Amino acid sequence: MNFDLSEEQLMIQEAARNFAQNELLPGVIERDDKQEFPKEQIKKMGELGFLGMMVSPEYGGGGMDTVSYSIAMEEISKVDASASVVMSVNNSLVCWGLETFGNKEQKDKYLKKLATGEIIGAFCLSEPESGSDATSQKTTAEDKGDYYLVNGTKNWITNGNSADFYIVIAQTDVEKGHRGINALIVEKTMDGFVVGNKENKLGIRGSDTHSLMFTDMKVPKENRIGEEGFGFKFAMKTLSGGRIGIASQALGLASGAYELALKYSKERVTFGKPICEHQAIAFKLADMKTQIDAARHMCMKAAWDKDMGNDYTQSGAMAKLYASDTAMWVTTEAVQIHGGNGFVKDYHVERLMRDAKITQIYEGTSEIQKIVISRSVIKG
Ligand code: CAA
Repeated sequence: MNFDLSEEQLMIQEAARNFAQNELLPGVIERDDKQEFPKEQIKKMGELGFLGMMVSPEYGGGGMDTVSYSIAMEEISKVDASASVVMSVNNSLVCWGLETFGNKEQKDKYLKKLATGEIIGAFCLSEPESGSDATSQKTTAEDKGDYYLVNGTKNWITNGNSADFYIVIAQTDVEKGHRGINALIVEKTMDGFVVGNKENKLGIRGSDTHSLMFTDMKVPKENRIGEEGFGFKFAMKTLSGGRIGIASQALGLASGAYELALKYSKERVTFGKPICEHQAIAFKLADMKTQIDAARHMCMKAAWDKDMGNDYTQSGAMAKLYASDTAMWVTTEAVQIHGGNGFVKDYHVERLMRDAKITQIYEGTSEIQKIVISRSVIKG
């Protein structure tokens, strides 16, 4: 078993680290404060290939493996989780879903633009009354012959206003349950599409999260991804990979906070010595480092499973469950190590703590991950 990263993976890690330090760190506190989407930075991320890392070069992507993507996600998330969620949704939920299940015409039309960041995408599953219980959604896509008539509301949509391309999951035949659901490509310019209010959030405040309303929106049949009734499975399969991205984001939040806390603990002096020399702090650092390394191994294993063609539903869910709990715990301890300074925005750790919370919620709550893991364990 080889734990070393390849030359290429090390280069990607360094490129992502440099980009985060040089382009994302300046202004990150202000963007969080003003809830400002990092528009220019996302454009540059697209030009550098961070938005379509795993897309095949034929469609303008980097053709990279999932391990490289996880490494880059960690580095970007150490500094700016609002930018990394855009990266995660665009790579794992939008580009991967379209490349894997879309037809040639759909890929020719949209994938290159998505992979290069010319346009960005959004994935629309959750609704006001159906987040975890995804089969009970109310948005309808009525079959009208050569188009679907779409009506309904989607909630908490990442990139809600910044996207141009939306994958909307909607119910065509209620009688058929999850087999009556379709995944449709929707463009923002379609008649009947309205972007609702922006959510005022606890964390990842730079990412723009909106509700979306559809009223008698006509979506051509050729915009359906996959066979009739494949929409729910499309969403589940896509989310299985998405969870590796969010696990890596959580890992980055934890390791970013840990690095800041370690540095601070070597500089801050109390009772005549740096605080890292007090056992109370030293043991916290030991626990933080141990949990972060465990989370990283789980992210790498899930990414590797995906690259090897193994089933990654269970390993991805376990990585997300563990890494998001690690992120919440480590960021909270990082604030504690910083004491009063940790409560102040200039020191970054309070933002990382606020950002960490969402990793236990989106792309399947921790409780949903436990359902996924336990069902897979019991099934054997
Ligand atoms: N891969 C492939 N197929 C899957 C699957 C997977 N991971 N999970 C389920 N399926 C299939 C099942 O095999 C079943 O198919 P058959 O009937 O043909 O056997 C079908 O899908 C229905 O599955 P279940 O009976 O297990 O469905 P369920 O109603 O019990 O729900 C669930 C399962 C796992 C709880 C699911 O509802 C779920 O994952 N919920 C959470 C949804 C979620 O993650 N939402 C996040 C929103 S997106 C987001 O946050 C994006 C963002 O903007 C950041």
